[in-house]
Amino acid sequence: MISVDISNLWGEVSLPDLLSLEQEVFAAHKLLVEGKGPGNEYLGWLNLPVFEPTSEMKRIRAAANYIRETCDVLVVVGIGGSYLGPRAAIELLKGQNHNLRRGDPQIFFAGNTLSTRAWQELCQLLEGKDFAINIISKSGTTTEPAIATRALKWMLERKYGAEKAKKHIFVTTDPVRGALRQMASDAGYETFVIPHDVGGRYSVLSAVGLLPMAAAGIDIQEVMIGAAQAKRDLSLFSFENPAWLYAAGRNLLYRRGKALELLCSYEPAFGYFARWWQQLFGESEGKDGKGIFPCTAEFTADLHSLGQMIQQGERNLFETVVRFAPCRRKTLIEKDYRDLDGLNYLEGKSLDFVEEQAFLGTLSAHTDGGVPVLLVQADEICDRAVGELFFFFELSCGISAYLLGVNPFNQPGVEHYKRNMFQLLGKPGYAR
Ligand code: PA5
Repeated sequence: MISVDISNLWGEVSLPDLLSLEQEVFAAHKLLVEGKGPGNEYLGWLNLPVFEPTSEMKRIRAAANYIRETCDVLVVVGIGGSYLGPRAAIELLKGQNHNLRRGDPQIFFAGNTLSTRAWQELCQLLEGKDFAINIISKSGTTTEPAIATRALKWMLERKYGAEKAKKHIFVTTDPVRGALRQMASDAGYETFVIPHDVGGRYSVLSAVGLLPMAAAGIDIQEVMIGAAQAKRDLSLFSFENPAWLYAAGRNLLYRRGKALELLCSYEPAFGYFARWWQQLFGESEGKDGKGIFPCTAEFTADLHSLGQMIQQGERNLFETVVRFAPCRRKTLIEKDYRDLDGLNYLEGKSLDFVEEQAFLGTLSAHTDGGVPVLLVQADEICDRAVGELFFFFELSCGISAYLLGVNPFNQPGVEHYKRNMFQLLGKPGYAR
């Protein structure tokens, strides 16, 4: 079960500060679960975690098995909330180098960029491979995935013929609306649903995340059990609820002028999970001239790049460190009889032990340097722990955004760049 340790905030905030926030956190949490706050038409994500597989999950597993049996590669096409969640789960659970492993299909991501080089690289990687695509877009009109979809569809049709290609196309979209729904109905592609009341950045526990995860060999039932357990555990209305501690801690720090949050982990495979978190909090809170800017770092690697800035730069940031319980399987440091590298003092120690000392040393250095640190402690990385972590951050984000006084479920600012781009591209309806 997830726990949150706020003891490294003392000095910056006090226990009375925290307790003074109790009524506000209570109200924010109540607003969320009773569905009475702004954006309440997008609360479907609260009901996604389930202990028993739904019929949609069974269909997802069947489609994933088909992909695993017939394809070398699955290309997941989507951007933002229609992409970061599955990539986060796959990298955290299968490793950053999951595509080099034997046994599972390779999973490539497309439609999240307009880079020509990235597109040409993908085309090369797909040469000679049997592949399927999972197009994920709620609106069905987002430019980046729409361009990739058009091209990948043609590639599939050229490779397999129009009829057979249909068996290689899986669409995840709105249940009734949108261009993609229309395209899928016309062509007869297999489809999965993004519930109308679930926004992109809260959709990882729907087919958005589950089909790519299952295709990658992740047990999606375990992920869902983890999320369902988290939903049960995080329903407490008190500071015993870790989501309360996280939401309250970060909001108190923001009120003290800490406008940047650095989400850190000592796991390289956590990189995309951190990006998923960055979108979740950035898009949910960054509006109305408010919001904590979400940044990410990987320790210990970034201690050798960002470490100086964290230790002695402007004192406007705090850290949230996600810690996982250590691996059960240990790696030990061996003795070298010549000891030219001077490492024999670590002989027989596990790599975990060294990492733990790096963490403890960094924690006290950063708190000494005026960087408050929130600790989120999770179980050893496994399917359940990942489901739990997804739900923990989603719930914390909803509470935190209501504490801040913003609508956690809209993103009006994102449209601005799109409008400009469409004008420049000459899209019909966007005349200058
Ligand atoms: O969180 C969000 O709502 C966004 O990041 C969307 O997921 C993203 O813009 C993609 O939208 P769509 O799924 O409609 O293609």
